Amino acid sequence: MSLSNTFPDLATRQRHGPQLRPVQVMVVASGKGGVGKTNVSVNLSVALSACGKEVMLLDADMGLGNVDVLLGLQPRKNLSHVLNGSHTLKEIIVKGPAGLSIVPSSSGLARMANLSLIEHAGVIRAFSELSQDLDVLVVDVAAGVSEGVISFICASQEVIVVVCDEPTSITDAYALIKVLHLDYGLSQFHVISNMVQNSREGRILYHKLAKVCDRFLDVTLHLMGAVPYDPYLRKAVKRQYAVVQMFPGSPSARAFKELARVAVKWPLPGGTRGYLEFFVERLINSGTKTRDMLYD
Ligand SMILES: Nc1ncnc2c1ncn2[C@@H]1O[C@H](COP(=O)(O)OP(=O)(O)O)[C@@H](O)[C@H]1O
Ligand SMILES: [Mg+2]
Repeated sequence: MSLSNTFPDLATRQRHGPQLRPVQVMVVASGKGGVGKTNVSVNLSVALSACGKEVMLLDADMGLGNVDVLLGLQPRKNLSHVLNGSHTLKEIIVKGPAGLSIVPSSSGLARMANLSLIEHAGVIRAFSELSQDLDVLVVDVAAGVSEGVISFICASQEVIVVVCDEPTSITDAYALIKVLHLDYGLSQFHVISNMVQNSREGRILYHKLAKVCDRFLDVTLHLMGAVPYDPYLRKAVKRQYAVVQMFPGSPSARAFKELARVAVKWPLPGGTRGYLEFFVERLINSGTKTRDMLYD
């Protein structure tokens, strides 16, 4: 599907319509599950909102969405209602802490992980309606290297890989980076060391991953920061709050705020690459590419 098919009126809109606003899209990924992706996504999003950014968090863990559970929200509608045409994206968005907008996923809805091209196109249009009001889109994806996960990662500008200090977390993070580099040409990654004792341990963990990547791949890994193992985070999870909101002075909350300070310094995407419409467009195209590769 070409850009002109999806957005026949894009050039016209750029000339006459409201100015398109660049939106920074950052995806939070990991090789292995349970390393803290959803907690990073939620707390980074809330911290970015608190910095004055207009942030939307997309729960793209379509098999097992749990952003809403983590925040104690009970969305009545989700993306499946957008896909079947019964609701607009604006109608399904729920508000989180600090004005954060959340697009809830649909737990257990297997078909959400396999959208048809038509459904994808519907999602593009839905997102393009929202881009006027946004600075940042944070995408929380499932673990691993499934087709859906790869599509979201390839469509994003900034790829954040969360690791913790377990051999399987490091080997699975390496496997993810390897696939993204060798099969999809990605070469820049941000790394968050999670559940570490202190920032020194966070750096050591980052170097472990960077060393193996340096040896076998032509990629650059940037240490975005470290989040300590924090019982306050567990307490906040149990009470269904973001730790940055419930315990703002706790070690993990301070680390998340520092991560947000790092992210706000990332340069805004230039050219058309920065528009939300193109993020969703890339999503479709990468999905198509993977499908083509799978069924060739
Ligand atoms: N920094 C941390 N300190 C303590 N517990 C953490 C931390 N990060 C994550 N956890 C815990 O690890 C578990 C998995 O986190 P989650 O964000 O759901 O991971 P993922 O989305 O990668 O599967 C949760 O029970 C969460 O409370
Ligand atoms: Mg998760």
